[in-house]
Amino acid sequence: PTVGIVGCPFSGGQGRTGVDLAPNKLISAGLVDQLTSLGWEVHYNSQEQKYIDIPFNPISTSSSSSSSSSSSASSEVKIQKLPDEDIGKMKKPRLVSAVNEKVSKEVEEIAKKGWLPLTLGGDHSLAMGTVSGTKAKYPDACLIWVDAHADINTPLSTDSGNLHGCPVSFLLGLEGTDVAPFNEWLKPCLKPEEIVYIGLRDIDGPEKAILKKHGIKAFSMHHVDKYGIGKVVEMALDHVNPDRSKPIHLSYDVDALDPIVAPSTGTPVRGGLSFREGHYITEALAETGCLVSVDIMEVNPSLLDPNSVEKTVAAGCSLARASLGETLL
Ligand code: ARG
Ligand code: MN
Ligand code: MN
Ligand code: MN
Repeated sequence: PTVGIVGCPFSGGQGRTGVDLAPNKLISAGLVDQLTSLGWEVHYNSQEQKYIDIPFNPISTSSSSSSSSSSSASSEVKIQKLPDEDIGKMKKPRLVSAVNEKVSKEVEEIAKKGWLPLTLGGDHSLAMGTVSGTKAKYPDACLIWVDAHADINTPLSTDSGNLHGCPVSFLLGLEGTDVAPFNEWLKPCLKPEEIVYIGLRDIDGPEKAILKKHGIKAFSMHHVDKYGIGKVVEMALDHVNPDRSKPIHLSYDVDALDPIVAPSTGTPVRGGLSFREGHYITEALAETGCLVSVDIMEVNPSLLDPNSVEKTVAAGCSLARASLGETLL
């Protein structure tokens, strides 16, 4: 089997710098060799700078009118960047949109080769790109979202304005998401019954209303306590993938793990998954044979002390390995 690693050094979906350092940290920790040892052919193109200078909202400086939004990466075109001003409550909307359009194409391309895209965030706004890219290849794919947060705020409901709290609403096409520049490339591609959450424990009021309104299945930490992680994963799969026949996209925010296990993340919430509960999810999904795309998001190597960073990076790597079939025995 072949895995295509998509490193996304991107932090524009939230307010803290450093989450963009994660892909290189995870790679430096030995992830490529680790996956190779598991029997995978690993493709990884290091492009450290790739999202730093992405031209969003380009306007031509004088005579010629601005080219189409899909202008190729020609360095000769004279562009002037407008400030990425808020659109409504959304922060850095043009940058987040442009980066995700690129990520979506990259994930789609890898998936269409029959490879498994493994996306290393970066912040969780990147799931707009990863999930839409997966859906372009596998229209019937279901989505398992492991997170302390639901990330289902809309541009209207968001309090923080941070787009890493909003990707799911865009994928579903909820009210307020049919907005430029996102609607120029991102079409609703996910149905409410195709997503299930595991690990939730910090959901905003409007998000609770959205989950309820659309009947979206969610297993919170309360359910993990009540049923145990084995039963929760089984129930989650029964909901989105009853015959275990559909492709699965796993979007894993490391803040689903307890901050003791993964401290270096931008929005930690206590009371999370233990190391084993967190890994059990990935092992059980790997066991289905249905995983076609995996995201490891929100590791922030600039937060806290070196020991915390090491723990968090190691957890990111081991979650990736377990998702790709590393088992205990
Ligand atoms: N619900 C909050 C917000 O919308 C927090 C989101 C945290 N998301 C994340 N991907 N860590 O701002
Ligand atoms: Mn989260
Ligand atoms: Mn909150
Ligand atoms: Mn998240």
